[in-house]
Amino acid sequence: MPTAVRPSLDPDTLDDVDLADPAVHAEHDLSALWRHLRTEEPVYRHPETGGRPGFWVLTRHADVAAVLRDSARFTSERGNVLDTLLTGGDSAAGKMLAVTDGEPHRDLRTVLLKSFTPRALAPVIESVRRSTRQLLEEALGRGDCDFAREVAANIPIAAICDLLGVPAKDRAYILALTSSALGSDHGLPTEADTWTAKNDILLYFAELAADRREKPLDDVVSLLVSDAFGDRPLTHDEVVFNCYSLLLGGDETTRLSMIGAIEALIEHPDQWAALRSGAVSVESATEEVLRWTTPALHSGRTATEDLLLEGEFVEEGDVVTVWTASANRDEAVFDRPEVFDLARSGNRHLSFAYGAHFCLGAYLARAEIGAVLEGVRAMASELSFAGPSSRVYSNFLSGLSQLPVSVSLDPRYRPAER
Ligand code: HEM
Repeated sequence: MPTAVRPSLDPDTLDDVDLADPAVHAEHDLSALWRHLRTEEPVYRHPETGGRPGFWVLTRHADVAAVLRDSARFTSERGNVLDTLLTGGDSAAGKMLAVTDGEPHRDLRTVLLKSFTPRALAPVIESVRRSTRQLLEEALGRGDCDFAREVAANIPIAAICDLLGVPAKDRAYILALTSSALGSDHGLPTEADTWTAKNDILLYFAELAADRREKPLDDVVSLLVSDAFGDRPLTHDEVVFNCYSLLLGGDETTRLSMIGAIEALIEHPDQWAALRSGAVSVESATEEVLRWTTPALHSGRTATEDLLLEGEFVEEGDVVTVWTASANRDEAVFDRPEVFDLARSGNRHLSFAYGAHFCLGAYLARAEIGAVLEGVRAMASELSFAGPSSRVYSNFLSGLSQLPVSVSLDPRYRPAER
């Protein structure tokens, strides 16, 4: 049973489309709309809708990269996603890595990077590979499973909790909170749900930080509360906001990408065969999965000065959004962009953004998606849909929250010793 086909949005209806509305993304295929914008209106002024201010929409790969590269003229300090930018800014601005610019951003990033080098991540990635195989073995043993909930939901959250030092007993609670805080597994999220979940996450990390101040361990929370941080200790808010950002940044995007990988492999049997036979490498497949799924649809910035973009006058203070969902399908950069091609070479996708705010967790995310591809390649002989899937409702995240699949175990597969 294929996943539900979403009706295409007709570019002629552009003036009535509200790109800030989660349902627009969850319930429609926007490919034709993005193509129209890239070719006809690459710097498009999105009208005011529902009492929210208008904003600029950039869709070409070159323009998206140019804005992301230029933090001086396009700041993240007033928020980096539509939801916060259209409602008066991000309360964590200047405190949380993704919404801080200039020197404070460089200082914070330099320290956090210590926990994200291949060497520092080696034990976390080893544990990701082990637990991914175990989860896949269990799912394959059952034959049918919801890949989203029974496999993917457990992988990135475990990795980021390992990094942050969140105890095993709290992980299910943390997973439930992250789903409510960002998108929604059950249709449209209410503002109250989102707000409560965000606050509960902040409270949780305030307590964990207090514990680590008393008794430091070898984890990121202990690093953030330690005096060894730059030339001054971080404030309480800086600690909890950055824990929050690592948790949300590290969990749902990676999860949606690995779920989308399985969906795409089922929909493209030739690519599944190429992966299984070893005709394409897991590294190359991972990059195409990242391009194809594009779990983070857009990044948002604010213009710090009046400027001209492709002949359009952008005023200081205007909200400028860049749509990776479109840039990753730009025919000026990708040969046959609408084709899922695991062997694609020179894959310049922007799924992890670009420039100063390039995703801090890109190496970890690639390793996690790679572990899933490696696992299904070694263990499964057949993959098929086993029921209807459902999508997340979000204007920022894209993908499936539910993906029932049938999997057959490859008779040649022998479980590894644990
Ligand atoms: C497939 C998975 C992932 C995708 C698609 C993704 C995407 C992104 C994007 C687009 C940005 C830039 C946002 C902006 O321009 O405003 C970003 C930044 C960031 N990501 Fe990721 N991310 C992923 C996984 C992760 C993981 C696993 C972690 C951590 C464990 C993480 C932590 C962060 C952080 C901390 C930033 C802010 C970096 C900065 O501002 O300097 N991400 N990510």
